[in-house]
Amino acid sequence: MNHIVLIGFMGCGKTSVGKRLAKRLDLTFVDTDEMIEQKMGMSVSDIFAGFGETYFRQLETEAIKELSETSSPCVISVGGGLPVQSQNKPYLRNMGKVIFLTATVDVLAERLETDTSRPMLQGGDLRKKIISLMEEREEAYREAADLEVDTSRQSFGKIIEKIVENL
Ligand code: S3P
Repeated sequence: MNHIVLIGFMGCGKTSVGKRLAKRLDLTFVDTDEMIEQKMGMSVSDIFAGFGETYFRQLETEAIKELSETSSPCVISVGGGLPVQSQNKPYLRNMGKVIFLTATVDVLAERLETDTSRPMLQGGDLRKKIISLMEEREEAYREAADLEVDTSRQSFGKIIEKIVENL
């Protein structure tokens, strides 16, 4: 498959970068969270609250499976937890270029400080949550990725150029 898949931690810029990249390449932009919200007619927060995380993870697997069967190339932003689930790894591997967007803990904390839409980060100390989840996930992100791009210190223009150069 020839998709471009953006992975990385919540707040790393997958949606903002993905939309700009799709525009630049004249491709459709798809977001797995949005697919799930549309299918369920509910927000991600409400799905977590009503059905639990395990059910949400099943919905993510259905979404990535469906996208892996889509032949026209898309720029795809996947939820931060998706690449970590072992059942999703074979799909990711066969979808095309996988780009890991990174950002420092400070930058992530700043971007996520006032966010209330991400159930994995609600309650307790935000920085501590970011650090411990990142520790759990970083290896999976690295394993899945063909390219790593830092979003902390670069403009969108530079980020997009770096990705396009490496396609
Ligand atoms: C999650 C990331 C979110 C969303 C859900 C769970 C995670 O997506 O899928 O809140 O476990 O990292 P974004 O990475 O697009 O914020």
